[in-house]
Amino acid sequence: MKSSEIRKKYIEFFVERGHKEIEPAKIVLEGDSTTLFTSSGMQPLVSYLLGEKHPKGKRLVDSQPSFRAVDIEEVGDASHTTFFEMLGNWSLGDYFKEDQSKWIWEFLTEVVGLDREKLHVTIFEGNNIVPKDIESFEIWKKLGVAEDHIHEYGVEKNWWSRSGTPDLMPVGEIGGPDSEIFYEFTQIEHRLEFGEKCHPNCDCGRFFEIGNSVFIEYRKTGDGEFEKLPQQNVDFGGGLERFTAASNNEPDVFKTDLHWPLIQLVEKFTNKKYSEEPKQMRIIADHIKAATFLIVAGVIPANKMQGYVLRRLIRRIAVKMYELRGNPKKDEIPTDAFEAVCSEAVLLMYNGLFEIREKEQREKVVRVIVEEMDKFGKSLEKGLKEITRIEKIDGKIAFDLYQTYGFPLEITLELVKKKGQSIDLKEFESEFKKHQELSRSASAGKFSGGLAGHSEIETKYHTATHLLHQVLRDILGDTVFQKGSNITTERLRFDFSYDKKMTNEEIKEAEDLVNAKIKEDFKVDRKFMTYDQAKTLNAIGLFDDKYDKSNVSIYLMGPDYKLDPKTKDQRSRGGYYSVEFCGGPHVEHTGVIGGIKILKEEAVAEGVRRIRAVLS
Ligand code: ALA
Repeated sequence: MKSSEIRKKYIEFFVERGHKEIEPAKIVLEGDSTTLFTSSGMQPLVSYLLGEKHPKGKRLVDSQPSFRAVDIEEVGDASHTTFFEMLGNWSLGDYFKEDQSKWIWEFLTEVVGLDREKLHVTIFEGNNIVPKDIESFEIWKKLGVAEDHIHEYGVEKNWWSRSGTPDLMPVGEIGGPDSEIFYEFTQIEHRLEFGEKCHPNCDCGRFFEIGNSVFIEYRKTGDGEFEKLPQQNVDFGGGLERFTAASNNEPDVFKTDLHWPLIQLVEKFTNKKYSEEPKQMRIIADHIKAATFLIVAGVIPANKMQGYVLRRLIRRIAVKMYELRGNPKKDEIPTDAFEAVCSEAVLLMYNGLFEIREKEQREKVVRVIVEEMDKFGKSLEKGLKEITRIEKIDGKIAFDLYQTYGFPLEITLELVKKKGQSIDLKEFESEFKKHQELSRSASAGKFSGGLAGHSEIETKYHTATHLLHQVLRDILGDTVFQKGSNITTERLRFDFSYDKKMTNEEIKEAEDLVNAKIKEDFKVDRKFMTYDQAKTLNAIGLFDDKYDKSNVSIYLMGPDYKLDPKTKDQRSRGGYYSVEFCGGPHVEHTGVIGGIKILKEEAVAEGVRRIRAVLS
């Protein structure tokens, strides 16, 4: 079946069953500061899932263009895309598990005509919050699904919320167990490198998830605690790309009509075959589509937020195009080909792949992409000249090329390979880290935790400060928040919000707890993530708004948590003891700090206290 037919029939099917079609939300939600992009159909409906009355009633249906920036690195295999259309239907406190499973089964098997034997379903196995979903098991059995096609999984796979598993959900977030539907491509052989036995959630490519019914009836109220919502909701989402792939028994979503014409264009402009370079071509096709939708939603390339994601998409298209076309004449950058492929792709999308038809919009999309390509093409060109001039390229030079010309490491690597050289990647990475830390701490002392220098001893103080921050919150409560930090080779000084003098017992308790955490010898990890993801981990610390929220640096310590009453909130931090916004640097393991001694606790301003401590 064609994708447009599936989209139309899905909407009709649910409208016939009492649903009202709603306008999909914009891919960039206005007035929603919690998220950069619309990444699922339920996102604009949260208040209605919580109980507010929707003007169109209790049964809704739509097709929601969605964008998942987190999947950008996954694109390249046969099923992942950053941009996709989510077919969604909702019950806002109306029908529940039985009707939902019955209808979606009927739609997939009778309307789309999928082979029942190739469909597998999953149910939630239960945990300490919600029991096993026996009801769904019985419903699927009644619908004729064989028991060996009904699989049980835990929270990792069969619990859905915008922030993931229950422990990652911030207080107030809604979610619940879900029941997913998978399609089995029996023509794909399971590969042992993915595990001994194949199963629906195996990554070998034999199965992929095509739809997900989430039974949203819980809201997080505290650490590990949930309450039932006033109503039982259904939130169904199914990828149109994947429905279409399954309906054609085609395990590669890029071979469906939603991507194939774009792939053919890329083949034409690069003179390469998809079968030879599937990964690169998938990235180009996906990113052109995603970039088009972002620009239609008003995003323009920039160094921050949504604009930064768009810039990354466009630059990746340029790099992949460059890699596929090679460098036909020395120093020539095929910006003409970039332009041609983008404008034809956009034209194609306007002519039927999507419902974005206004001419001005189309022109704008092409203009924005081409301008960005052009800018980037110039950097590529300069970088290329530089590379041909340099005898031996080491990690530091590769980094300079990257920093000065925005010249991607992957291209540098490829060209030196041609020169018969190899680059020490560790050196590149260490330059990269140094640069990040310097640029962050240079413009905001705050962000580097008040760290003046990077000596070993200052680094120890810096890590100890993170532990102290969390310890104070554990002992004195969540109103404690960093107000300032200053570190020298002699001591740490930490200012925090708190309106009383700490008692001697509290000071002793804080010192002991910091020392206990140091002794546990936590591994100190650094991760880059979006600001939103950091917030779902309840990251603390000072975050300066001038930083790019799509890529923030977080330090995490202590992944193995015990349920100590003092640290019980640790579950809401993804199991880490300390999670902070920070540019570093830090020690690798807390054990090397040795221990600390608190020398003084005093007031510095109304509601602000100061602790001075030394290494002991
Ligand atoms: N909101 C659910 C999902 O994204 C349907 O999987």
